[in-house]
Amino acid sequence: MATDRTKPDTLPPLPEVIVPPHPEWPKLSETETALLKEKIKKLLKEQDAVLVAHYYTDGSLQDLAEETGGCVADSLEMARFGTQHPARTLVVAGVRFMGETAKILNNEKRVLMPDLAATCSLDEGCPYELFSSFCDEHPDHTVVVYANTSARVKARSDWVVTSGIALPIIRHLAEKGEKILWAPDRHLGRYVQKLTGAEMIFWPGSCVVHEEFRAVALERLRKLHPDAAILVHPESPEAVIAQADVVGSTTALIDAVARLPNLEFIVATDKGIFNKMRKVAPGKILLEAPTVGEGATCQSCAYCPWMGMNSLQNLAEVLATGKNEVHVSPDLAVQARIPIRRMLDFAEAMKKGGGFLSS
Ligand code: 13P
Ligand code: SF4
Repeated sequence: MATDRTKPDTLPPLPEVIVPPHPEWPKLSETETALLKEKIKKLLKEQDAVLVAHYYTDGSLQDLAEETGGCVADSLEMARFGTQHPARTLVVAGVRFMGETAKILNNEKRVLMPDLAATCSLDEGCPYELFSSFCDEHPDHTVVVYANTSARVKARSDWVVTSGIALPIIRHLAEKGEKILWAPDRHLGRYVQKLTGAEMIFWPGSCVVHEEFRAVALERLRKLHPDAAILVHPESPEAVIAQADVVGSTTALIDAVARLPNLEFIVATDKGIFNKMRKVAPGKILLEAPTVGEGATCQSCAYCPWMGMNSLQNLAEVLATGKNEVHVSPDLAVQARIPIRRMLDFAEAMKKGGGFLSS
């Protein structure tokens, strides 16, 4: 009997994702930090470079990006920003798929990353060959992949989405009657399916950071803080999402802290986001949603080990040496650019408030 791959648990075993320990960066004094920041600012100017950082990176990198006219953003805005900024070099502080996306969209630019080993469990858990044969078995499905994937996986897809745009894109495809093959984050996939009623099959991937949020412990914490709003990133398990007042991308969660009248918030996403949340909503009380355990029993404790590979130290080093350049072969970039551009064009059309006409 043929294997039924419409059921995630009937896929062949996926590779085990090795989660690295959190990097330990030497603690810098205030003077050392200030000197290093000055050095980086000078190098950014000399190299005609701009810093594009994700909300999960260390606060010092986020602040520096803002101070130097770069951007700190979610993965959708990071992709867009790189295409609109005139700098010849993009320095991407985040994880590899973000650097690759920047390169795919800006082939003429140099893209550097503080550490090329900074990957993502979703990307690692969706190897191209297995994914491609999954797609081959479902030729009548539109292939939609999350941005947290390799350039090859993107090139095999019809659409790329981020958490900030997944819902309207899936709704749009469902309205056209398309059947969707979704990869790799099963929690985000199920969340958008529930809201749109789309016909979808799923790749069984997950984020090691968000997978660790615990619904029962969250319920207990809510009872202790009955007036707190619960903010959840949709990579979290379904029972955690079910308790949320707001579910959304990192940008949407930051906006919620600023916008909602609540004084307290329980936040289920990487704790790097607190840096920006504190800035947009000073005085509000931010609580970490509970994770699976403490210390040794917790793989991430709401802190992505790959995002943690970015620091002021290795940022200064790549700018000074030019090492850690991101390369994507031009042929692959041409293919991968199509579904990414489709997403960006969709986002642009939404912003303008117009309907979206796709081929
Ligand atoms: P956002 O696009 O919401 O920033 O998410 C990226 C990510 O990797 C979340 O874990
Ligand atoms: Fe990937 Fe999760 Fe880290 Fe985001 S938080 S980069 S999804 S491992």
